[in-house]
Amino acid sequence: MYPDRVVSGMRPTGSMHLGHYHGALKNWITMQAEQPCLFFVADWHALTTHYDDPSIIEKATWDMLVDWLAAGIDPTQATLFIQSRVPEHAELHLLLSMATPLGWLERVPTYKDQIENLANRDLATYGFLGYPLLQAADVLIYRASEVPVGEDQVPHIEMMREIARRFNHLYGKEPGFEQKAQEAVKKLGSKRAKLYNELRTAYQQDGDDDALDQARAMLEEAGSLSMIDRERLFGYLEGSRKLILVEPEAKLTAASRLPGLDGRKMSKSYGNAIALREPKESVTTKIRKMPTDPARVRRTDAGEPARCPVWQFHQVYSDAPTQEWVQKGCRSAGIGCIECKQPVIDAIVAEQEPMHERAQPYLDDPSLVRAIVADGNETARKLAQETMRDVREAMGLSYT
Ligand code: TRP
Ligand code: SF4
Repeated sequence: MYPDRVVSGMRPTGSMHLGHYHGALKNWITMQAEQPCLFFVADWHALTTHYDDPSIIEKATWDMLVDWLAAGIDPTQATLFIQSRVPEHAELHLLLSMATPLGWLERVPTYKDQIENLANRDLATYGFLGYPLLQAADVLIYRASEVPVGEDQVPHIEMMREIARRFNHLYGKEPGFEQKAQEAVKKLGSKRAKLYNELRTAYQQDGDDDALDQARAMLEEAGSLSMIDRERLFGYLEGSRKLILVEPEAKLTAASRLPGLDGRKMSKSYGNAIALREPKESVTTKIRKMPTDPARVRRTDAGEPARCPVWQFHQVYSDAPTQEWVQKGCRSAGIGCIECKQPVIDAIVAEQEPMHERAQPYLDDPSLVRAIVADGNETARKLAQETMRDVREAMGLSYT
């Protein structure tokens, strides 16, 4: 019923590094060419954990946008915006909160984990508990079908789906729904109406998921329907409610294969990160200082790549012949570690060169970024307002 829209966001809590690039951004860049994409800076989400020190958020927001552009997010393909500039997210969050059972939020695995992990911050707040609900609003407000996220976010997407289902169940009823739906079926024309009824029965009686997909595809193509009839027919396929909000799916990004310099997860707070726009000299120094297989004390000691974080970088950055050169050279002490690291340095520098180039105009003239985002905010806001109109109406709030 709605285009295959992709929505994803990131929290502006620090500078972006190569772990983010290989873990998420590369995936965004692939998707932007294939589907309508909305990518946003989740500044309100940053506040849930940084409410006592919001000063970093503004700078982190603009830096992150430059990083996205540098990485290759293309503002002529994707919509880039800032969450707090589309206040409809907050309105939907509030309205959804009315019918969200507390238990759903308390059960989200990241909730208790984070409270324990970030024990130095007081996270026993209303905002933090509501984090996944705000995230649900971020996505549902665009009726997105896919959300590219990492594994850790899957429970959040699951909860979003429950929220959408509950919303449709509670507010998608309308008096005489069955009759209105049947009238809408007639408007499909007799051939398609017959097919619709067959597919609906196949799904409802036999749980035939293919029939459901086929019927949805047919509705998407049926130009003769008004928006409201379309919502009815989508809902009628599955039951007796209108579909106002759409259940999105998680599109898993493979966990980043690029670890930090010390082999742990790359993270600024571990001091093991390479920034997305790290200066060339500093890339060289950082890689030269990387720990290697501890067994290679002397140049003549043989090593084992499996015990060396440099090898993990080769797996991301090097072609097969180079990888073989590493394997053989390391195990026979035929190459030294400094030598082994050079192709990694070269590859990272080469990967980052176009990023530095793309970033330069935005650094020279920050108003360019402001303008891109102003456009994006406006585009996003229009879409959000359309959904909110339907949401308010469904909840009986459209009186003037
Ligand atoms: N929670 C996400 C994270 O920590 C960020 C986020 C906020 C997000 N809203 C979103 C991701 C909506 C996808 C869709 O990474
Ligand atoms: Fe690591 Fe390469 Fe040294 Fe082997 S030769 S220990 S893979 S840096």
